[in-house]
Amino acid sequence: MCGIVGYTGAKSAIELLLDSLEMLEHRGYDSVGIGCVEDNKGMVGIQKCVGRVHDLRKECEKQPMHSTCGIGHTRWATHGGVYTKNAHPHQCGKVTLVHNGIVENYRELTEDYELQGKLRSETDTEVVAALLDRYYQGDAEEAIKRVVQKLKGTFALVMMFEEEPGTIYAIRNVSPIVAAECERGMMLASDLTALGNFTKKYFVVPEYCVLKMTKDKMVITNLDGEGVEPQMQVLDWKVSGLGKEGYPFYMEKEIMEQPNVFAETIKRRIFKGMPDFSADGLSDDVLMSCKRICIVACGTAMHVGLITQALVKSILHMHIDVELASEFMYSDPVLDKDTLVIAVSQSGETVDTLEAFKYAKKCGATCLSVLNVRGSSISRVSDYVLYTEAGPEIAVASTKAYTTQLAVMYLMVAKMAFLRGALSEEETKAYIQELQNVPSKMEEILDRKKEIHVIAKEVLESKDLFMIGRGMDYSILLEGSLKLKEVSYIHSEAYASGELKHGPIALITEHTPVVALVTQGRIMSKELSNIKEVKARGANVVLFIKEKLATQLKEDYNVVTLPDLEDKFMVFPAIVALQLLAYYVSSDKGFDVDKPRNLAKVVTVE
Ligand code: AGP
Repeated sequence: MCGIVGYTGAKSAIELLLDSLEMLEHRGYDSVGIGCVEDNKGMVGIQKCVGRVHDLRKECEKQPMHSTCGIGHTRWATHGGVYTKNAHPHQCGKVTLVHNGIVENYRELTEDYELQGKLRSETDTEVVAALLDRYYQGDAEEAIKRVVQKLKGTFALVMMFEEEPGTIYAIRNVSPIVAAECERGMMLASDLTALGNFTKKYFVVPEYCVLKMTKDKMVITNLDGEGVEPQMQVLDWKVSGLGKEGYPFYMEKEIMEQPNVFAETIKRRIFKGMPDFSADGLSDDVLMSCKRICIVACGTAMHVGLITQALVKSILHMHIDVELASEFMYSDPVLDKDTLVIAVSQSGETVDTLEAFKYAKKCGATCLSVLNVRGSSISRVSDYVLYTEAGPEIAVASTKAYTTQLAVMYLMVAKMAFLRGALSEEETKAYIQELQNVPSKMEEILDRKKEIHVIAKEVLESKDLFMIGRGMDYSILLEGSLKLKEVSYIHSEAYASGELKHGPIALITEHTPVVALVTQGRIMSKELSNIKEVKARGANVVLFIKEKLATQLKEDYNVVTLPDLEDKFMVFPAIVALQLLAYYVSSDKGFDVDKPRNLAKVVTVE
């Protein structure tokens, strides 16, 4: 999950590469580097460092280079620690390259070809550079084709060869590379966010094909040397980050955008008060014919699956599984043509989800994806795609993607329920009306963000923290807990509150912070009993509770009331409150909320 960029043309390459890498830092930001063909020298000069692009800019200012052709890389460490020697580009003899992916057999290759003496880093990438240099006898494409057939794993390789100044080569397997001819010249990148400001037309480099990019043209050939026509695509949405618009962090901006992007996501999918997916090209038959549903996703997207599962079981009474994409293929899933597999992904590039989805397709399932990024890898292997209207989500911690993905799922469940007679037209319209009330209820909680900020100070110094709830509340807390973990580094654990007494309550002592969530009327009494159990053992409880239920409280708690919606819709105000909680804890700790340590926005390694 690194960011890769390449440019060759008539313009200065350095600033363009650095600006493009800044657009790709969401893919990893442990270290960063560029390699450029120095004008009139032919050799490739490299500048790289641990840290962010702004650190590299300072390095480049100290040692200015003049070049019109170069490659760049921002890293999320997989093999080898976060040191400059492991930063990309890697150079070996006449070869300079950057890589995104994991070459699983790099140790065997090192031994088989006795490359040890050539290596200065701990990376799998440098082994590829050494191998390419070994095979390079003047014909770059020949060397590339011979080497990639020895690699096992995923890779996006972007290379320059000393004897071909101004030419950039690329080849990929699973890891993404997109390319485009822009006004400024020829560009390629790991994803569209780096190209979106320069072009509206692009193509995906086909797997196991060599792209040769010079300032005048791009040529693609397959491993047999046959020409391959690029499949041009149109970029139909704005990818620019649009900046923070006055917010200190993208995360806060994106939390605040939720009411609008939620409304935008459902607007064109409601016709005369009923759910309507005709604009998405999703036929009723797809929703009518499946006998089982299986959702595959990771992280926050998987938590969307859990909420969907609760809806499908309670409204449609259908079998539905929610599977961690990284586990899916190894869990011997039972799939057939009657299974609707739904991949949920903000980026559409998560390799765990992509590979799980491809597996499901091979098993004959119908594959539908709910994505935010148009033209992403998962969209290209989908039978149907439902896009959210969240717009670019830059903060690593996903917020608006979660609520807009849920918006799509809630609409899809309503459509399925109506088609299958589980909801009458009147019941369906009432459900849709409640969905249309969601944005204003999210607004209400956003208007009280100062209150949440005060609560955040209660947990600021915590090392460990529990979040407890039952049923849908538990599923919501899994997402709330992930938010807190990933941006504040507090070890937060979401637990089904009925399960605490079977062991984990042993961890509750005086002042243990516990966040409790109560939004489901039918299990409220059970949840309150569990809260009393932890309070009796000294826990400091912060209770987030639906307004209407708060009137029944007998005990005095530190309470945050949540604007009322029907129980099934309470996820929306509840998650906004929990997102704000995580955000304020992190920002009050002085952390870089948008780029938490060890993480990246797009996980393109398995
Ligand atoms: C969420 O806050 C995390 N950044 C992470 O769990 C993320 O949801 C996960 O990696 C899936 O990403 P995707 O939606 O782009 O597939």
